[in-house]
Amino acid sequence: MIRRSAPGKLYIAGEYAVVEPGHQALLVAVDRFITVRVTPAEHTGRITSALYETRYLTWYRSPDGTVVVERQSNDYVVSAIRHVEQLVREGGGELRFFDLDVHSELAEPDGRKLGLGSSAAVTVATVRAVAGFYDLPLDDLAVYKLAVLASEAVQPVGSGGDIAASAFTGWVSYTSPDRRWLHEVRERTSVGDLVRSPWPHLLIRRLDPPRPSLRVGWTGTPASTPQLVAGVRARARGGADDAAYSAFLRDSESCLDALVRALEEDDSRQVRQQIGRSRHLLTRLGATSGIAIETPRLRRLVEVAQEHGAAAKGSGAGGGDCGIALCLPGTDVPGMCSAWEAAGIRPLDLSVYSRPEDAP
Ligand code: PMV
Ligand code: MG
Repeated sequence: MIRRSAPGKLYIAGEYAVVEPGHQALLVAVDRFITVRVTPAEHTGRITSALYETRYLTWYRSPDGTVVVERQSNDYVVSAIRHVEQLVREGGGELRFFDLDVHSELAEPDGRKLGLGSSAAVTVATVRAVAGFYDLPLDDLAVYKLAVLASEAVQPVGSGGDIAASAFTGWVSYTSPDRRWLHEVRERTSVGDLVRSPWPHLLIRRLDPPRPSLRVGWTGTPASTPQLVAGVRARARGGADDAAYSAFLRDSESCLDALVRALEEDDSRQVRQQIGRSRHLLTRLGATSGIAIETPRLRRLVEVAQEHGAAAKGSGAGGGDCGIALCLPGTDVPGMCSAWEAAGIRPLDLSVYSRPEDAP
């Protein structure tokens, strides 16, 4: 039996800008996981997951060997299997049947989503587990690339930052690749060549863990990232606001450079300043596009955190989900958490997760 886990993620800064190729975001992986188990089977395979309404899918192979599922579904697990198996085939390997079980800690027990990136984590965990099943050695960058190709085939939206955080773990500085280029070359390039070749703009760097500890508050309201991203891009880009949008992208880039430097140099004043700047850039983007990225509850979350000494902002696309607080020296963390609770914000019991170097 092969068992592989992939962590969820949270954005620290750089949201929305990172959707545009060559722009940067900072993320962390968190210690809640999706675990995928693969066991050998014969003639058909079964995918079991609480994420499915029907609990499981049965799959078999078309005459050319491709995995097909009963009802033609657009599914991250199936897409991840297909992409890893494509690599196996290109390397002359023999395809086999297996059962695959998905277990997720990324949602609430009642199924409500927290915004921790379950699609990315399930894709990364499946890539790792199926590659393990076929004895295919993959480094983190190859896992990231396969997971991006698999996700793009399901839903071509998003920067891939969630996938990078889940594949690399820890604190991750991420510059997104040019996905238009990726679509173009995808047609005429083998999966193996794509995984081996450099991708324009793509840069993924794990930072040494900085000193400020991370606390996360949950607003209790789930938000749809694809809808928010589509809304903001449609309104902020291309129209009369184009100059404002270009300025947003430039400012976000310089903010991220300064934030990463401040974290690496343990410069608390600059960390506070740049987290505040990132927050303002995003609220202004929300205002120009008429979309509430920072909801009243997220705003309250930030204010409470600041009153207790932390640097804080919403995390991710906003509109609900989570906010983050970087607890700089002197932050009253217990006070902040009780004040959050009094304001209807739930402190989540999670920490940054860094995979040990020798873990599979
Ligand atoms: O809401 P989240 O945590 O999925 O973050 C979305 C971040 C965006 O930059 C808005 C979109 C993306 O794919 O990077
Ligand atoms: Mg979100």
